Amino acid sequence: MRIVVLTGAGVSAESGVPTFRDADGLWEGHRVEDVATPEAFEMQPGVVQRFYDERRAALALVAPNPAHTALARLGTLPGVDLLLVTQNIDDLHERAGATDVLHMHGELLSALCASCRSRCRWAGDLADFPPCPGCGMTDLRPDVVWFGEIPYQMERIQSALMRADVFVSIGTSGAVYPAAGFVQMAAACGARTLELNLVPSEGTSFFDEARHGPAGRLVPDWVDEVAASLGVDTR
Ligand code: APR
Repeated sequence: MRIVVLTGAGVSAESGVPTFRDADGLWEGHRVEDVATPEAFEMQPGVVQRFYDERRAALALVAPNPAHTALARLGTLPGVDLLLVTQNIDDLHERAGATDVLHMHGELLSALCASCRSRCRWAGDLADFPPCPGCGMTDLRPDVVWFGEIPYQMERIQSALMRADVFVSIGTSGAVYPAAGFVQMAAACGARTLELNLVPSEGTSFFDEARHGPAGRLVPDWVDEVAASLGVDTR
């Protein structure tokens, strides 16, 4: 069974990572356009670096929840060919044991050099503009996709959506494209589509089925159903 899962901020909400659109449109007290655009970085690089430095440091204070754990288990089920795509820049899927997570909006734990375009793993701060380990220039930025930039690995995602038997969207408001359009692409290519979200998303009507509630409950239940349908013992 070929499954494409798309996750958003809601999958990490029960771990204590704030979502984007549940707090009056503010993200940790900032308007996204003040911290998540190339223009903001050009105007106020220190402010933007500090914002992401705080988010990176905050990763140490959170842990995966049962939704992350269930998705890691999904990838190990015999007969499942999973592509786990996340819009999240945290590392909670990986810490739950998921392998090959596609971070379409980048990762907090990665830095991108604006000079040589190389990437490196980065766990510390960037606000003091450290040199790039590759070229030595002090042009490192968070390796995250800002508004107006193109999400990563779109070709791989699109080809998986075209071949998927099942597409599941978890914990995302359906407000940000291109991810919000994945359901229609998968459905047009024959996949069954399922939404698992706290409340109906903006695109809820595009799904064959929608279940509403916390991801920490809905996702393990759904993974158990998949396992049972494949004859895997879930006890
Ligand atoms: N379980 C399931 N869903 C939840 C939970 C939960 N415990 N808590 C909140 N949600 C849902 C909300 O109801 C909302 O529909 O998760 C969704 C989160 O939506 P957003 O905050 O808009 O986050 P997301 O969809 O991931 O945002 C997409 O927008 O700002 C950009 O680049 C950023 O990747 C992000 C993109």
